[in-house]
Amino acid sequence: MDNIKHSVLVVDDEEINVMMLEGILEDEYTVITANDGTQALDILWHSKVLPKVVLLDVQMRKMGGFETLKNMKADDLLKRIPVIFITADKEESKALAAGAVDYISKPPNPDVVRLRVKNQIELKNYSDHLEELVAEKTVEITASLNVMIQAMANIIEYRNLESGGHVKRVQMYSKALIDHIMDRSSKYVEYAYQLKLLDTDIIVKSVALHDVGKIGIPDRILLKPGKLDPDEFDTMKTHTTLGKKIVESILNNNEGIYLQHCRDIAYCHHERFDGKGYPCGISGYDIPLAARIASVADVYDALVCARVYKAAFSYNDAIKIIVDGSGSQFDPLLTKALLDIQDEFKAIAETYK
Ligand SMILES: [Fe+2]
Ligand SMILES: [Fe+2]
Repeated sequence: MDNIKHSVLVVDDEEINVMMLEGILEDEYTVITANDGTQALDILWHSKVLPKVVLLDVQMRKMGGFETLKNMKADDLLKRIPVIFITADKEESKALAAGAVDYISKPPNPDVVRLRVKNQIELKNYSDHLEELVAEKTVEITASLNVMIQAMANIIEYRNLESGGHVKRVQMYSKALIDHIMDRSSKYVEYAYQLKLLDTDIIVKSVALHDVGKIGIPDRILLKPGKLDPDEFDTMKTHTTLGKKIVESILNNNEGIYLQHCRDIAYCHHERFDGKGYPCGISGYDIPLAARIASVADVYDALVCARVYKAAFSYNDAIKIIVDGSGSQFDPLLTKALLDIQDEFKAIAETYK
């Protein structure tokens, strides 16, 4: 890392100052120069490799240092470059308050310049390194969560014999609904906006765990070849609360979006839009959007597949049943989206039989 010649941007409208700073720094750094704030921003916006530090004069005729720094702070990338102000007397505290990391008083002392630039570059390298480590760790954690969640989903499928391929299809239907809403964002503007804020890839992965709570349902109920009696049905309903507990225990140390989606979906995928669902009886938009999506996808698949206690419905009948439940069982906007892409649902059902 130390062999790399880092670049430093020097911004000053006095040619003599630029030359002086260039002379001080050029042995150790690649020095880029600009004569005012506008030119400096132009260089920064267009450079492939950003300078490690910017030395910025406060008083310049065309866009002064404070305004330049304000513009840098408004940019996601540029705001991370440390800025050292080159200040006249009595501007030091103002410079630091504006967000500069350090200052150099005029006239610049070569040793002070070299030391302050070196310090800031070392700090910047260190913080870049930490950020890289955090990013790598996040990727690693997400990858192991993906594996774990898929493994859990497989366990549920192996146990719940009647639903081979069910998890995969419910994920595909959910993805199709999400993609369609995002594609036709003008038609579904509010949902497209909400989905943009959620991590939709993780919603699709989390859908795999919608029935994870069934791990805790006794075989005699889970695998019963016929309709459940009311008591058995009550036990079956607990797969939602059990699911929530299981998700919370396996994602214990992950308070992020993964836990949120997995928990919402496992807990709320049997809630109804009219509030007559379970386990909580919450209604409408109180039901998390990810769970409302999973609910449409899950019921569609249950309808078009044969189960031990019922024959499969035709694709058209399944759509009709879901549309009939629009506003009562299902979110009306999602049933509308389903109608738009019913052929895609049918294709998924056919492909992943
Ligand atoms: Fe379920
Ligand atoms: Fe399901």
